Amino acid sequence: MHTTALTDTAAFKALQHHHAKAVTWHMRELFAQQPDRFERMHVRAAGLLLDYSKNRIESETLALLMSLARERGVEALREAMFRGEKINFTEHRAVLHTALRAPAQACDAQVDGQPVSQEVHAVLDHIRDFSERVRSGAWRGYTGREITDIVNIGIGGSFLGPQMVCTALRNYRHARLTTHFVSNVDGHDLDEVLSRVDPETTLFIVASKTFTTQETMLNAKSARAWFLRHGQQADLARHFVAVSTNAAEVESFGIDPDNMFPFWDWVGGRYSVWSAIGLPIALLIGFEHFSAFLAGAHAMDRHFRDAPLEANMPVIQALIGIWNRNFFNSESLSVAPYHQWLRYFPAYLQQLDMESNGKRITRDGTPVGVATCPFIWGDVGTNGQHAFFQLLHQGTNVTPIDFIAVLKPSHGIDEHQDVLLANCFAQSEAFMRGKQADEVRADLERQGVDAAELAALLPHKTFDGNRPSNTLLLPELSPHALGAMIALYEHKTFVQGAIWGINSFDQWGVELGKVLAKTIHGELRSEPNPALHDASTNALIALARQARQA
Ligand code: F6P
Repeated sequence: MHTTALTDTAAFKALQHHHAKAVTWHMRELFAQQPDRFERMHVRAAGLLLDYSKNRIESETLALLMSLARERGVEALREAMFRGEKINFTEHRAVLHTALRAPAQACDAQVDGQPVSQEVHAVLDHIRDFSERVRSGAWRGYTGREITDIVNIGIGGSFLGPQMVCTALRNYRHARLTTHFVSNVDGHDLDEVLSRVDPETTLFIVASKTFTTQETMLNAKSARAWFLRHGQQADLARHFVAVSTNAAEVESFGIDPDNMFPFWDWVGGRYSVWSAIGLPIALLIGFEHFSAFLAGAHAMDRHFRDAPLEANMPVIQALIGIWNRNFFNSESLSVAPYHQWLRYFPAYLQQLDMESNGKRITRDGTPVGVATCPFIWGDVGTNGQHAFFQLLHQGTNVTPIDFIAVLKPSHGIDEHQDVLLANCFAQSEAFMRGKQADEVRADLERQGVDAAELAALLPHKTFDGNRPSNTLLLPELSPHALGAMIALYEHKTFVQGAIWGINSFDQWGVELGKVLAKTIHGELRSEPNPALHDASTNALIALARQARQA
């Protein structure tokens, strides 16, 4: 708990003062004056490299941001998290996703005085055993055929992580296995997946921390009904497994307790990919690779916990985000992975960051007083370049960008990788440099454009540049590197939440919609109750009822 509001801290005030100077800098000049700028402004950790030199910062900026982190108690909160203190105080829960990827001997986390490592490793053993049986063909469907398709039914954190990782690591997949993800309660989602799979060879994973989420439970019931049109009740045990913290609900759904993979309330949904929620990943890429994925995250955890703030990759990334958000007022952060298989990474980050830090009240119950989480959005490069990058270059808002590049491709097609990386590096250079009026003028004169035309074109073809970006380099898209990258973003989110003084681990805002949806669902199926709603909602309900009856 902080006794001083963020804006009243000495470091925040010093940064405000410093910002008045920073608005006069142009990165193009900073680079021209500082040949060692990259050397001073990059950091390596867990096999990754973060180049943060293309930001509107100087050494003094970084020093002041580090003071801010210290003044806001980032180090103490970090220790509290790793040790298992109940820092998610609105739900009275510890926050221990780091314990899910720690080797037994390296885990000092305890909840209510009990070490957690043994339970974690018991579940990992279950995952290893089960995934090996499915992969080897020892686990078979009800007609004796091997499993070929895995359908994960889950939403939010019970979907975004496994889908993103299974897509990113498809190079490691088992040749016989295909993963599918059903998340949307829109029946088109389930219908489409069921049309592609065979009940005799399909394994359903019902993944839900609470096992009460409306969308997931309806999808699971419909999938079970579909299965029972082919197999018998007794066959369900070979085709349905569950991942949840809620053993009672799993059992009442009809899933054999032996086929349940548990996790714990100290694992937040959006931090759960390392838990049994990662079961589809272990099935697809094998337990050895899944372990490497956990090891990559653990390597980043070690770095985050042990490295001094000044050389700490998640801390630096978080503080630059604070600088852009709270001093330069950037409203969003665009994420541009230059790898086709990282196409779901922006969506994954949306939940991680926006569900964690989309808050306006501090831990002591008062308004934060500054802007918190920016909107997170993006798409793979080079597709984004041909869609929304124009706005990023010349639009009226300055949007920082995280470029993510993978140095070694997983394909052998000549030339593509060089073109891909050239585009990635060219974009960050263009955002930084811009194009000055004298350069545009020289270009146009070379082309022989007359003076009147030149004067008319000049403002359109000139752009300021000075637009900030980070570039994160992965050596290759391996389980280890991916694990490290996800953990990097988790810790970045944590540090920003600590600076803003918010609880990054609850999500009360999404609850209201869930409650209202239950009421309206009843009204769509039986009698509407207009007294409960506004005119707009009543009209929409009436139209939907008419469409059902038509
Ligand atoms: O969107 C709200 C939320 O509670 C997320 O935090 C969570 O990841 C998702 O719903 C799914 O919850 P569950 O895993 O309990 O089905």
